[in-house]
Amino acid sequence: MCGIVGYVGHRTPVPILLEGLKRLEYRGYDSSGVATMNGGGDMWIHKRQGRIRNLEKDLPSELPAATMGIAHTRWATHGPPNDTNAHPHRSRDGRIAVVHNGIVENHSALRKRLTGDGIVLHSDTDTEVIPNLIAKFYDGDLEVAVKRALGLIQGTYGIVVISVDEPNRLVVARNGSPIVLGVGENEMFVASDAPALIAHTKQVVFMDDGEVAVVEPSGFRTTDLHDRPIDKAVDELDWDLQEIEKGDFEHFMLKEIHEQPRAVTRGLRGRAHLEYGDAHLGGLNLNRREFFDIRRMGLIACGTSMHAAMAASYLIEELARVPCKVDIASELRYRNPIVDAKTLYFAVSQSGETADTLAAMREVQRKGGRCLGVVNQVGSTIARESDGGMYIRSGPEIAVASTKAFTSQLLALTLFALKIGRMRDLSAAAGRELLTALHELPGQMQSFLEGADDIERIARSLIHQPYCLFLGRGPNYPAALEGALKLKEVSYIQCEGFAAAEMKHGPIALIGDGTPVVFLVPKDRLHTKTMSNMEEVKARGARVIAVANPGDTEVEELADEVIIIPRTHDLLTPFLTVLPLQLIAYHAAVLLGLDVDKPRNLAKSVTVE
Ligand code: F6R
Repeated sequence: MCGIVGYVGHRTPVPILLEGLKRLEYRGYDSSGVATMNGGGDMWIHKRQGRIRNLEKDLPSELPAATMGIAHTRWATHGPPNDTNAHPHRSRDGRIAVVHNGIVENHSALRKRLTGDGIVLHSDTDTEVIPNLIAKFYDGDLEVAVKRALGLIQGTYGIVVISVDEPNRLVVARNGSPIVLGVGENEMFVASDAPALIAHTKQVVFMDDGEVAVVEPSGFRTTDLHDRPIDKAVDELDWDLQEIEKGDFEHFMLKEIHEQPRAVTRGLRGRAHLEYGDAHLGGLNLNRREFFDIRRMGLIACGTSMHAAMAASYLIEELARVPCKVDIASELRYRNPIVDAKTLYFAVSQSGETADTLAAMREVQRKGGRCLGVVNQVGSTIARESDGGMYIRSGPEIAVASTKAFTSQLLALTLFALKIGRMRDLSAAAGRELLTALHELPGQMQSFLEGADDIERIARSLIHQPYCLFLGRGPNYPAALEGALKLKEVSYIQCEGFAAAEMKHGPIALIGDGTPVVFLVPKDRLHTKTMSNMEEVKARGARVIAVANPGDTEVEELADEVIIIPRTHDLLTPFLTVLPLQLIAYHAAVLLGLDVDKPRNLAKSVTVE
């Protein structure tokens, strides 16, 4: 949430900062700003409400000379999005400027303290206390002043600080909000996320909580808040620039939907032992005994990742015969959870930075539990702090609405379910059957996506409806939840997902003449049961859009629209049923003229609670 970019070196900073901000716009997009400085300490600040294009549009034709700068794209937490509340924030004496991600929880107390010192703040933000505290403590050493100020701050932060008194130096600190340094040739970069750096360098340093870095063109040094030096490793990013660009697609969301066959292929590579019907997963840090001792599983996640975890829980229980509970991370973290040594936890997160998921994972670990990660972003906090885990390998996900992460997370957890199942009651033949079906998925996904022309017409039939329901059973119940989440978040159409049979316990009251109901009804062992639910809503006038397998005449006779998906293993159906739901959401948003990749009020990577 919110994006940060910083630069110090020999080039003009504004183009670098703006390009970086644009790559991070998915993290927040209600206002943005930039501050630059030259070697003489002349600071220039420019901020605008709205998208980064507003900031860019109003740039002066001649930019002030500079060799360093900081920039920010905001997702408002304190105070409305306007020019004043946009970052960078400057101290009242004008000497210090700061960009900040996170929340200063004790900002009211700090504001009062500053007011008592005669320093009147003029924005509504929590952030503005930071440059003012730093200015108050500044006595010739920016690093020292930053550390003293941070000592007073409760909450989370990723900050980059500049001072007119110390040109060519960025002071960077992290506590709960990601920060990555980029190492160049006589220049250094800072960002909240690696995509902002990739055009300039692949050499990166992921900062950890409690660290402060002093960054200059020639390099950086890192210490903790008590000045103890910390050696940081330089990692190499393995992304390509084209992975974070739209290419021939009109939107990232569509590109990422279409990337799913490739993501599943990547997720499977080197992880399947077809001969033994088993999965090979490096990085779990579990020995055979520990695997054997797992008695329960707990999956912790938010949003789409939670839906993937819910779908996976059906597979885990079925294949591994291990009870599996899915927890909303924000609930678990404050519930005083009961953690025991025989339960294995997974924190499931695309970004690996979601504040609630991270906090829930830490709470489990604090109580002595073992929590692994299912993460996409390499080097993210969850990836680093978990006790092992699996990368989902789906490549950068830029669209705010998550799509390919869902199928890739489900894949990783399916492979885990297979592995643990094979150590228990699952036969080699059953394992082989599942793996064979998994290997067929990329081709099946591809053929569906290539022939999905009709979905736009179906989406058109939904866009002027007041609401819409999504129903499914078994692992397609979470897929239905995901379909509803996708549609509501990008098209703002009110919709809900339910377990198909649960509908008659209340939600059926919503059904009237023509109410659209999307049914996920693959030809699995629950097919007959789901068909009965379809009859029930049809009898009340619903317009049924069914997602079904080829040759399903029962569905064809009853449903008003049928979207055909290829047939797969009963347990793997959500990999395919979710595709038309993602496309319906995408087309609905486009038809409504909405900003698909940046839906209102949302941002990717929710690093505040
Ligand atoms: C929905 C969406 C969110 C995220 C959720 C968790 O399209 O993107 O619901 O799934 O914020 O994010 P991660 O997976 O990064 O922890």
